[in-house]
Amino acid sequence: MKGIILAGGSGTRLSPLTRVTSKQLLPIYDQPMIYYPLKTLLDGGITDILIITAPDHAGDFLMFLGSGKDFGAKFTYEIQDEPGGLAQGLALAETFVGDDSCVMILGDNLYEHNFKKDFEDFASGARIFVKEVHDPERFGVVEMDERGHVLSIEEKPSKPKSNYAQTGVYVYDEHVFDLIRTLGASDRGELEITDLNNVYLEKGALTASTIEGKWIDAGTFESLFKATEWRREWVAQHTKKNKS
Ligand code: DAU
Repeated sequence: MKGIILAGGSGTRLSPLTRVTSKQLLPIYDQPMIYYPLKTLLDGGITDILIITAPDHAGDFLMFLGSGKDFGAKFTYEIQDEPGGLAQGLALAETFVGDDSCVMILGDNLYEHNFKKDFEDFASGARIFVKEVHDPERFGVVEMDERGHVLSIEEKPSKPKSNYAQTGVYVYDEHVFDLIRTLGASDRGELEITDLNNVYLEKGALTASTIEGKWIDAGTFESLFKATEWRREWVAQHTKKNKS
């Protein structure tokens, strides 16, 4: 399985912090944001990774991450010229992924969950990962039946049908790029990941898992701050443990 980190976009919700750098390079306590999704992939056993960035700060990503050697991995880079949506970003990975399956993680998503078993168990179709949240209208909202089967996914609905957010890790089989080609642009002019996942849902090929532990989409000032607090606590706890 190949890995993709989607780290483009314009980061407007974090302006002016993002005026001279990319959102995914902003610090979360002691590390740049992108280190966290990168570690999630590495902990999941994924080492062949494509990093997709916007043109403006592509060189900074290369400087930070390099070839992947320091991380025991291999990195490839791709530029998304315009922020045309998550599915449009994913489409840029077609040659890199080839006939393999792939996992895409959003460059501003931080997880405690370990995905190793989820990735190893994946066979076909698409798999999304959900988490109960108190502010579902910020996310793709997943409605499920009592057995956890997905009934619908709606992107940032004003009246959410559940409190389950579709988080920023998506696993797809080799058909994903053909299916992206069937998508049209949404009202905000983007190729939406939610529309792609709904195509899999309509084919009866979408499954959802609930994730363990904390999950943060660090794309707002408030969540960026929470992510920093979380990391600070983690570092403090682990420093204490190592000293005792
Ligand atoms: O965090 C989970 C949520 O991520 C999901 O619940 C939503 O269904 C999904 O649409 C997405 O919503 P966001 O509003 O959080 O997406 P955002 O625009 O912040 O983009 C997510 C990441 O992808 C961010 O690191 C920037 C990057 N990106 C975004 C766009 C639109 C790109 O690299 N290219 C793009 O064209």
